[in-house]
Amino acid sequence: MTKYDYTLWESYMLSCMQDSAHDREHVYRVLYGALELGKDEPGVDWDVLVCACLLHDIGRQEQFRDASLDHASVGAEKAYRFLTKHGYGETFAARVRGCIFTHRFRSEHPPESPEAKLLFDADKLDVCGALGMARTLLYNGEEGEPLYSLLPDGRVSPGEGDKEPSFFQEYKKKLEGIYGRFFTEKGKALAGERRQAAVNFYEALLRESSSLYDAGRAGLRALFGEEIALVRLCDRPELREPLARWFHEKWGVPLEAYLESMDDCLAARSAVPQWYAALDGGTIAGGLGVIENDFHDRRDLTPNVCAVYVEEAYRCRGIAGQLLRFVCRDMKERGVGTLYLLTDHTSFYERYGWEFFCMAQGDGEEGPSRMYRHTEP
Ligand SMILES: [Fe+2]
Ligand SMILES: [Fe+2]
Repeated sequence: MTKYDYTLWESYMLSCMQDSAHDREHVYRVLYGALELGKDEPGVDWDVLVCACLLHDIGRQEQFRDASLDHASVGAEKAYRFLTKHGYGETFAARVRGCIFTHRFRSEHPPESPEAKLLFDADKLDVCGALGMARTLLYNGEEGEPLYSLLPDGRVSPGEGDKEPSFFQEYKKKLEGIYGRFFTEKGKALAGERRQAAVNFYEALLRESSSLYDAGRAGLRALFGEEIALVRLCDRPELREPLARWFHEKWGVPLEAYLESMDDCLAARSAVPQWYAALDGGTIAGGLGVIENDFHDRRDLTPNVCAVYVEEAYRCRGIAGQLLRFVCRDMKERGVGTLYLLTDHTSFYERYGWEFFCMAQGDGEEGPSRMYRHTEP
């Protein structure tokens, strides 16, 4: 390879590159990355590698115009035609074509030659870490796609399983899983170093947008004078699935455990278990349950109020207190006047008329927790 070859390939690349996320700077980063990764690999054909890196995305415009086209196969053929037309040997042109053909992440054709693996890894490195997030955002912007979609209940979707395209959807679908997809050891290591920056950015963006939405929507409903409704699962069987999911998200206990207990509740064979929710329109603002034993060694102190939780945006509005009063009255009507509750809080439940009763050992906990008792007059 002479300076002349390089300039020829580079000029052809420049004439083909126009959209910003896959612009020339991406190509240079891929080239420089591949040169770095290639230092540790035996038997690299540097001419093939440099040429394949420079030309790897020259099919982008065609795919941009017609989404049914795959820029890897279009680019591979374009490169092959260009090289043979300019007097390069058939073998060289075919090897470059092979590298470009297999560089795509979502392709069923994995890279095989050392140069193809280096191109693949260097290209994938450019979607890792801060660079990957920035490029994806540029691309989303160009496509007019939003940062996130909204869930049916109006909260910001974290992106998992989203149908509509968005930055979070792309992060969950592609960016998050890319770190295990490298072919060279050095590529894997460099990607690993960049990973935390991407995770931090995603988490911060989700946190910032979610908390705004949650607080803002609650604030808006307060302005409308809409009140929180306290409901029993036994009156609202359609809440079984969303409520089970909500408790599962809050407490990390398997979803099936909640579903099973809620089915017991809905079967109405006995007073326990019961489940309750505080609803703000269609949004679950808080909830709790009553079960026989909340996973501790004092099986004689039963039944137990469990899984008490109020969404952050709804705290300091007395919702936990309302729920606790609601459940105590409801259970009394069912013939259960005394309830127990295991917690690590020290001065929370006193406010709602609960008294400290004894210490009890929670299953799998290091030390004992506080057991509270409440008797409905
Ligand atoms: Fe590409
Ligand atoms: Fe690329």
